[in-house]
Amino acid sequence: MGLVGAGFVGPHHIDAVRRLGFVDIVAVAGSSEASGTQKAQALGARKGYGSYQALIDDPDVHVVHNATPNHLHYEVTSAALRKGKHVVSDKPLAMTAAESRKLVDEAKRAGVVTAVTFNYRGNPLVQHARQSIARGEIGAPRFVHGHYLQDWLLHETDYSWRLDPAKGGASSALGDIGSHWCDLAQHLTGLTITQVLGDVTTSIPKRKKPRGSREAFAAAGSDAVDVVDITVEDLASVLVRFDNGAKGMFSVGQVCAGHKNDLVLEVCGTTSSVRWRQEHQNELWWGHRERANEILQKDPSLINEDGRPYAHLPGGHQEAWADAFCNLMRDIYRSIADGPPYRALPPAVATFEDGYRANRIVEAILDSARHGGVWTSVS
Ligand SMILES: NC(=O)c1ccc[n+]([C@@H]2O[C@H](COP(=O)([O-])OP(=O)(O)OC[C@H]3O[C@@H](n4cnc5c(N)ncnc54)[C@H](O)[C@@H]3O)[C@@H](O)[C@H]2O)c1
Repeated sequence: MGLVGAGFVGPHHIDAVRRLGFVDIVAVAGSSEASGTQKAQALGARKGYGSYQALIDDPDVHVVHNATPNHLHYEVTSAALRKGKHVVSDKPLAMTAAESRKLVDEAKRAGVVTAVTFNYRGNPLVQHARQSIARGEIGAPRFVHGHYLQDWLLHETDYSWRLDPAKGGASSALGDIGSHWCDLAQHLTGLTITQVLGDVTTSIPKRKKPRGSREAFAAAGSDAVDVVDITVEDLASVLVRFDNGAKGMFSVGQVCAGHKNDLVLEVCGTTSSVRWRQEHQNELWWGHRERANEILQKDPSLINEDGRPYAHLPGGHQEAWADAFCNLMRDIYRSIADGPPYRALPPAVATFEDGYRANRIVEAILDSARHGGVWTSVS
């Protein structure tokens, strides 16, 4: 494995892959020789590189993990595919749907294993809920709703490259976390979002950007700042329509005090409802009309066969974000280790097609908002 981009999430790619026990952590590439070397040492990789191309050219690296800021996703992934490397891309697959579309085609031509880390799919109770919904245990999904709220951009002194369209893309909160919500809604229900109506807000239109660099989620320090105009959204509410006629609604915001990583998704079916909340991810809520509501605690002996392979500890032993991330790596690397012809990855692993779809949904929401909040088809 070789990792490009070792900021916030990159090291979690390494941790997850290292836990598999059969993958050599070969190299880390940073934005300079110095940072590549320092990060490789800190993360226990054998080699550090100052450019992603050098890492991709290393014959010992078979799988490239792309955890760079969004604007580099296309070029890093495309270069890795050209060299015939397997690619694990963090989301978004690319900064625009057009770029993602190209990566879908390039990946097909390369014939390697590719995946996007929409990592909430790797949670055992998400897989349990997915199978339960597919078996009709809540009836037909009728209403899918929830939110994904955070507070790390609450103050005008909070700044990230995600707020710079040149680095993060045309969307900030929707692209960053709304994409997770939409992917999870489609994955859980087996439905496709076909139309959206968006209301998009930049609640803090001027921010103090530090002159030095700062990694994601780092608290503001005493750095010198420039006051910059912000054009991308930090708050949005969206109505959605699914291909079976189901309706939906979600909000995203990164300016919502007290919400740390508050992803909530509820599916109301024609007979029952089910809700998963990331911050309480070892519990699944079931809502009924004719009997008492229930809470299922994650327990391998109580969950269905789709969820069980993703649960590794007995009931009452909490599993969390990093474990779900590791579950996806296990699926991906099993397929790679088996060698060609590579077997299809399990549904829990998002494909480049899924990444492309997520880009298209976000672009349709921005389009809708730009036209004053009108129903817009996902192209
Ligand atoms: N799946 C998830 O839940 C999740 C969580 C966080 C971030 N992400 C995604 O991961 C990506 C990175 O986000 P982050 O929060 O880790 O950002 P970050 O800013 O903390 O880290 C990015 C790293 O990339 C490095 N970098 C920049 N240019 C580079 C280059 N040319 N070559 C090599 N390294 C370079 C930066 O120095 C930094 O260390 C984003 O696309 C983001 O959407 C996904």
